[in-house]
Amino acid sequence: DHKESYAAWLQYKKIDDAALLKEYQTWTENIVSLSDSIVIESAQNELSKALSSMLDIHPEVSSGLKPKNRIVLATMKEFNLLDNEIDIDFKQINEDGYMIKSVSTKGNKTIYLLGKRDAGVLYATFHLLRLMQNRESLKDVNIIESPKNQLRMINQWDNMDGSIERGYAGKSIFYKDHSFSEDFNRIQDYARLLSSVGINAIAINNVNVHEVETHLITASFLPKAAEVASIFRAYGIKTFLSINYASAIQLGDLETADPLDSKVKEWWKNKAKEIYRFIPDFGGFLVKADSEHRPGPFTYNRNHADGANMLAEALEPFNGLVIWRCFVYNCLQDWRDRSTDRARAAYDHFKPLDGKFHENVILQIKNGPMDFQVREAVSPLFGAMPQTNQMMEFQITQEYTGQQKHLCYLVPQWKEVLDFDTFANGESSPVKHVVDGSMFPYRYSGIAAVSNIGNDYNWSGHTLAQANLYGFGRLTWNPDLQAETITNEWIGQTFGQDELVNEHVSHMLLKSWEIYEQYTSPLGVGWMVNPGRHYGPNVDGYEYSVWGTYHFADRDGIGVDRTIKTGTGYTEQYFRENTKMYDSLETCPDELLLFFHHVPYKHKLKSGVTVIQHIYNTHFEGVQEAEELKERWAALKGRINSERYEDILNRLEEQVEHSKEWRDTINTYFYRKSGIADEQKRKIY
Ligand code: GCU
Repeated sequence: DHKESYAAWLQYKKIDDAALLKEYQTWTENIVSLSDSIVIESAQNELSKALSSMLDIHPEVSSGLKPKNRIVLATMKEFNLLDNEIDIDFKQINEDGYMIKSVSTKGNKTIYLLGKRDAGVLYATFHLLRLMQNRESLKDVNIIESPKNQLRMINQWDNMDGSIERGYAGKSIFYKDHSFSEDFNRIQDYARLLSSVGINAIAINNVNVHEVETHLITASFLPKAAEVASIFRAYGIKTFLSINYASAIQLGDLETADPLDSKVKEWWKNKAKEIYRFIPDFGGFLVKADSEHRPGPFTYNRNHADGANMLAEALEPFNGLVIWRCFVYNCLQDWRDRSTDRARAAYDHFKPLDGKFHENVILQIKNGPMDFQVREAVSPLFGAMPQTNQMMEFQITQEYTGQQKHLCYLVPQWKEVLDFDTFANGESSPVKHVVDGSMFPYRYSGIAAVSNIGNDYNWSGHTLAQANLYGFGRLTWNPDLQAETITNEWIGQTFGQDELVNEHVSHMLLKSWEIYEQYTSPLGVGWMVNPGRHYGPNVDGYEYSVWGTYHFADRDGIGVDRTIKTGTGYTEQYFRENTKMYDSLETCPDELLLFFHHVPYKHKLKSGVTVIQHIYNTHFEGVQEAEELKERWAALKGRINSERYEDILNRLEEQVEHSKEWRDTINTYFYRKSGIADEQKRKIY
């Protein structure tokens, strides 16, 4: 019985404090639903499920305002019915926003869950349940919430054979044996989890669209895709599909996929019509084109604006979107060629096209210019295209951050990226204000991330990796939330209110990214992993490869010179203030030193130690801290149900062992290269 592992943060544990139980029971005796839609129905179902499990009550749902002691669900449309009951102003919230108000008069307690639309009511419901799961009083609740980001999206990298690209938690919950899975129950539970943290869009197949998946936009699969879309629709989530840019050739028997060819245009227009017949509120296409051997407009000497706009025109009549990825670079680079810099690629390709894209195109940009490393600079493309919709792409699945065997809580990393000041509009122009659409007049924008879930009974392989999915949603709803706040919310809902559990797990999560960074690749240089699989240390694994991912370590020093005068000139892609900061050795922050500069091993960091000594220190310390993670967890034995306790303990033990492998490989490599001994004379091989 994997009940708790599976329920994730929607545990709805029985309230055992008698006084609180009484209080909650009084507030929730009745449910009054003034509106009626499939989304509202989901809210009602969630309430029923949660209240019966937490409070052991089974309130009936009625549609009249009559009963006392009640939860009232309503949208703006039913505003007039509430007018004389409470003072409400829907102008305070945006399309997906909501208000929660509790009003207590003599003999009647009411909690209002009010949204501008039905999705808001559902979000309000989940918020109320979060309060209850965290044992907050319902007296005088007055919450006004609007999401900061318009698109809050998940990208599934699921293939139809059931595998998941970069998936570390089992097989796909969507597909099996080149077809849709037979059991969609799990998809509904996934929709509940996503909606509970405000996610409103999902692309349900891998951005690498292979043979069978190319047919997802045909009548052979659209009926099933439509069923999946209905499940998500009931939770306020729009469904998108990743498409193969060469579909017109592969499905349409055309000889070309040239975006300026009229037959190609026509083909996509008809295709769009067909898709919308099956899924009337279809979100649109997610496109990986001219990237890592995927087809795209370059084949026809067209640029990415031509490529995206052709699809945009087809989707325009239906308000569909084209989400066009900027992960475009030369993946067949000659390592001897020192002038090509993969980090430059997205900016070099897309910046010149600013203003050339249709209004329903959004450029989806990875947080860093390389590829989801444990530490890299923030992509200079953010803020550099004031006339083109942009959105963020994060990776929840831990491809380069321990593959859900290691604990690596990514909320602190994502916060750093979102808070990064681009200077695009002068000082205080953080990335989060680019992607929330407030800095430039973007029609569409938001944040997407690659999911970390599969059909493992705990969804995410490492049970603590559930926190990354939770945190992504919450942060995307509101990037100003503190990491600590999100973390505590999650722990309370997942593990209950034990203070020691809260203290230890919170500490573990919040330190884990830093710890992982310490024992893996140093000072922002990245990579140093086994090629292909990307797990485990291999310092030169990518050094003489075609992927543009080098560290340039020799006997004297290490790092990538990306400066203007002597390097690849990448630093110049930033706005002036950041160019200056990164270009100079004096001002470049330590943690990114090797991302921007090639320096001797004896170069002194701002921290006071040399680069080589920093490498040794952090690798020894990283292992110690990984051991401390395990000890902190072990101290919680008996306070957490045994399945989750053992699962997590096993992973932490594996992490400790593997961190030693990292430590010894990296330290030995650099000791042998440099010949410089560890000042503290610790064991290096
Ligand atoms: C990474 C990852 C690939 C993925 C690619 C992408 O390179 O390793 O598996 O396809 O990113 O984002 O398109």
